[in-house]
Amino acid sequence: MDVQRYGPWALVIGGSEGVGAAFARKLAASGFKLVLVARKEAPLRELAEELETMGGEVRRLSVDMSQPDALDRVRSVTDDLEVGLLIYNAGANNTRGAFVELDPEVFRAVIGVNVIGQSEFARHYGGLMRARGRGGMILTGSLAGYMGAPSLAAYCGAKAFSRIFSEALWAECKPLGIDVLHLVIGFTATPAMVRLGYDLSAAQSSEAVAQEGLDNIANGPAWIVGGEGNLKVAIARSQVTDRAQAIEASATPPRS
Ligand SMILES: NC(=O)c1ccc[n+]([C@@H]2O[C@H](COP(=O)([O-])OP(=O)(O)OC[C@H]3O[C@@H](n4cnc5c(N)ncnc54)[C@H](OP(=O)(O)O)[C@@H]3O)[C@@H](O)[C@H]2O)c1
Repeated sequence: MDVQRYGPWALVIGGSEGVGAAFARKLAASGFKLVLVARKEAPLRELAEELETMGGEVRRLSVDMSQPDALDRVRSVTDDLEVGLLIYNAGANNTRGAFVELDPEVFRAVIGVNVIGQSEFARHYGGLMRARGRGGMILTGSLAGYMGAPSLAAYCGAKAFSRIFSEALWAECKPLGIDVLHLVIGFTATPAMVRLGYDLSAAQSSEAVAQEGLDNIANGPAWIVGGEGNLKVAIARSQVTDRAQAIEASATPPRS
């Protein structure tokens, strides 16, 4: 990863565990300085200390991205830095259920992190990159953003927003010297998925996903990780004419 083109600082939102931690380790190894943001203090501190031991420069901040003050809080540790790379990785869905029965706080948080958060951070850090005429953004998505799935309505809708939003942003930012990539992530072994109790034997590793993201930052607007299998899923979900039948056929049973 070219630190002259995308550095010197990379801001990783959701940069304490899983794919976000893998991004951070790879970027630190390429000479980037890092700002790491997540909610839980302990994993943030452990990763920051690991990277500092390897000679990296790291700032870390505990922030809940679903809250309206998230950008202001993150700005408090970045306003004196040149952030050339924004990686917006936070965004998984940890509570499934019928939308009309869900606690509204659940979907507000999903939309807050994925829709409001991605837009606010892309606007702010993209504006600074525009002034420098260079930079990059990786905004994480999901195969869930290609089709609505019962019990995941807000998550699917939020990831669909991210995908279409990123396409437009990619086209707007290209002439400004800013690369935008919507990184479509498939089934991936992350601590969040472990906590949800999934069998991860068939999952892609976080390291492989992060590497694909970095390798393809200039190949936007979107990159579907994981090769042929995930690509076929995205194509199938994009092209169906009978969406009623397809949605019902691909529905996953609710978690207990
Ligand atoms: N894992 C998969 O199979 C899979 C599949 C498709 C798409 N994705 C996408 O890949 C990305 C990473 O997913 P993941 O499985 O690693 O889970 P995740 O819950 O999004 O966690 C990733 C990182 O984000 C942080 N984070 C989560 N919610 C946050 C919040 N509200 N505010 C601040 N930081 C927050 C987490 O730390 P804290 O919990 O400490 O905040 C962690 O560092 C997400 O965008 C997800 O939608 C994942």
